Amino acid sequence: MPFSSFMGEALYNPETGYYAAEASRTGRAGDFFTSVSVGPLFGQLMAEQFCRVWELAGKPPEFTIIESGANDGRFARDVLDWTRTRREDFYQILQYQIDEILPSAVVRQRATLTDHRDKIIHDAAFPAACGCYFANEVLDAVPFRRVRFSRGKWHELLVGLTNSGDFRWMESAPEDRALKRRLDWLGTGFPEGYTTEISPAAASHVRYAASRLERGVLFFADYGYDAATYYDVHRKTGTLRCYHRHQAHENPFSQVGATDITAHVDFSLAATAAVEAGCAVAGFMDQGRFLMGAAEEGLRKMEGDVSPQAALWHRQFRTLTHPAHLGRNFQFLVLTKSMPEAAALPCLKFHRPSNAEQLLLPVFTPSP
Ligand SMILES: C[S@@+](CC[C@H](N)C(=O)[O-])C[C@H]1O[C@@H](n2cnc3c(N)ncnc32)[C@H](O)[C@@H]1O
Repeated sequence: MPFSSFMGEALYNPETGYYAAEASRTGRAGDFFTSVSVGPLFGQLMAEQFCRVWELAGKPPEFTIIESGANDGRFARDVLDWTRTRREDFYQILQYQIDEILPSAVVRQRATLTDHRDKIIHDAAFPAACGCYFANEVLDAVPFRRVRFSRGKWHELLVGLTNSGDFRWMESAPEDRALKRRLDWLGTGFPEGYTTEISPAAASHVRYAASRLERGVLFFADYGYDAATYYDVHRKTGTLRCYHRHQAHENPFSQVGATDITAHVDFSLAATAAVEAGCAVAGFMDQGRFLMGAAEEGLRKMEGDVSPQAALWHRQFRTLTHPAHLGRNFQFLVLTKSMPEAAALPCLKFHRPSNAEQLLLPVFTPSP
């Protein structure tokens, strides 16, 4: 089977999948940290940006936040708690939709969000008239395909079984149309054994996300690169990583169902899919820059504040923005749909237009 099918079962089988388990997968007790597990600050800063989008849109009477892959609902709770106490007017008109693929996650989200029960909707398929779409560390968790350049051409790495019933990699001619298109675009200038990942499903996810809003802003936060960096000939072994109890390794066939499997995001593919789906790229920058813009005003107001709350705020902010923690490896792709006014968002203040342009450059020459 394609690796994407194997990964889909390993992570999302409703009974045995990694993300179906009751146990928390993120934070100190889990397998890895996310910006959400650092504390409520990430959700609070994002809530402020969502509120600014609403204001820039002219304060429409209805506004929808759509979150994809909401895990246990903590981010949604942080956003809604902040909004209720700080911007009652925004809270009143707000609706919070969660796109979730696992029934067990829906149960956990409902339990976390009892306080905001009336605001939450699961499984809404219709597009929202105006709103924001948000996905943190979702694209890296969407099942991807694995490919290897050998004997002068690309092969897809499928998952097969040995005689003794263990999983093993098998090379096969690529058949999937979207995969073949991306491989044609990459061309053949790669060294023997070059192995990497391609995620047509992540591109589909972005197209779907774009279809969920008629007007508004989409935020994708994740680790990843533009295609030129992602498919640099020197990066010969790809970005597939597995996580178990804060240990990283590269064997997805070990402890299947108890191990997270991810790959870095090809943000060029994501941005191209978004543009094809009617969006514009408003910014592409690391999380440090993004949150510095988002928090600038708040930081100024807190100058001289030595309270324990301010100390906690600063500790979380450092973890989220410091280059050695989450500030440099995580990127924000910000997309607008029918909403050029969003260029004035504080979180875009420090973005460099050349970074966004670089995403969409056709860096590889398609083979004949
Ligand atoms: C690494 S976790 C991140 C969870 C959360 N956003 C956070 O930041 O803590 C990846 C999440 O993506 C979700 N996911 C993967 N594919 C999805 C899809 N097609 N639609 C919605 N959620 C998806 C998984 O269920 C999982 O909760």
